[in-house]
Amino acid sequence: MKALEGQKILDFTHVQSGPTCTQLLAWFGADVIKVERPGVGDATRKQLVDVPGADSLYFTMLNHNKRSITINTKSETGREILTRLVEECDVLVENFAPGALDRMGFGWDRIQEINPRMIMASVKGFGPGRYEDCKVYENVAQCAGGSASTTGFPDNVPMVTGAQIGDSGTGLLLALGIVAALLQREKTGRGQRVLAPMQDGVINLCRVKLRDQQRLAAGPLEEYSQFAKGIPFGDATPRAANDSGGGQPGRILKCKGWESDPDAYTYFITQAAVWKNVCDLIGKPEWKTDPDYATPSARLPRLDEVFDEIEKWTMTRTKFEVMDECNPLDIPVGPILSMKEIAEDRELRESKTIVEVDHPERGKYLSVGCPVKLSDCYVEVTRSPLLGEHTEEILSELLGFGGQDLERIFSSGAVGDRAASTK
Ligand code: COA
Repeated sequence: MKALEGQKILDFTHVQSGPTCTQLLAWFGADVIKVERPGVGDATRKQLVDVPGADSLYFTMLNHNKRSITINTKSETGREILTRLVEECDVLVENFAPGALDRMGFGWDRIQEINPRMIMASVKGFGPGRYEDCKVYENVAQCAGGSASTTGFPDNVPMVTGAQIGDSGTGLLLALGIVAALLQREKTGRGQRVLAPMQDGVINLCRVKLRDQQRLAAGPLEEYSQFAKGIPFGDATPRAANDSGGGQPGRILKCKGWESDPDAYTYFITQAAVWKNVCDLIGKPEWKTDPDYATPSARLPRLDEVFDEIEKWTMTRTKFEVMDECNPLDIPVGPILSMKEIAEDRELRESKTIVEVDHPERGKYLSVGCPVKLSDCYVEVTRSPLLGEHTEEILSELLGFGGQDLERIFSSGAVGDRAASTK
């Protein structure tokens, strides 16, 4: 028994944000039916291709545990099938450009008419307002959500982050909204609309920067290293480089091998509670009692000097040795792990955070596993579907089309090539 077993998800998602959401629902046991255009499919199938002829990693890593049906939803037969799918399914998830579903003839009013219990969940770039009609990709959301203006170095341009907080981040939020709506439906019997705008998702993840924006009214942000450097603050939260987000100063420091290894660094936090341990560790026991260093507020204007001294010590160790020595002393540190190190990490494989999946076109590849672990809902990551692999299976088993109806549907051209789908 899986947590979402029995829930049927009509998956109209593409690219990254929507597929992240429906993949999560599939991992929790929902039957996710991905609707794609015949012969074309999700654009990511053929983007950033590394194995000619095979679905790309971009697609395979975002569409595990789903089934694929191909339907031209703008054809008459396609609309007939889609209507049946709306009748049968619990949730419709989509992240088309604004208005695309309406243009297809399946806006919210029509969906409610067909199935009043249906939950219709959408990712859009922006919520209601002047930008609501815009198409949006990851980096646009990072910029419009306050992330880019607060990421990077104060004397340089705004930066986007590697973490896909606009796409994958919003997809995760949408999944939560869907599960909440399903629970509410238990009581009301009604479906509802669920909207997760990417800008809202990024703003939510940047709340500490909105906190700092308001703190600026009370004076400079003393825990930002630009304060120690004497650089004046402007009227908006500045880029904080690698400063720690909270009141515990931290920096990225070089470790042994940094000259040749771009990831030979550690994050080092001088948490006040363990300051004495830090002093002993780096050979500065006198700082424990020296009034210029003994308290967090005394250290704030001296953070450059403090971290320079700590770095002299970290440069004599590898990032893993730093971890090994600091952890027993409760000093929070973190090695800067490269993607290569993450891919090869044995424990991440054992915890199924990184999984190896076999695929008929591309062979074995690595993917991310389910990032949330439920003790009573085991997640087995299975491969993504080939384009239209389950068209016939869904038409016959779920929608009950058989015999002449199936012949009619396939010969209409509305669902693509029959040979592409297994029976
Ligand atoms: N049958 C027939 N037509 C289909 C179809 C199917 N099975 N599936 C999709 N289409 C059509 C849509 O109806 C739409 O047609 P229309 O423009 O004539 O109405 C068209 O395909 C493409 O949709 P669109 O969403 O505009 O794709 P795009 O490639 O131009 O834009 C995005 C991509 C991501 C920018 C856009 O979808 C978007 O802004 N989405 C919302 C925000 C989002 O999720 N962004 C992050 C993506 S990771």
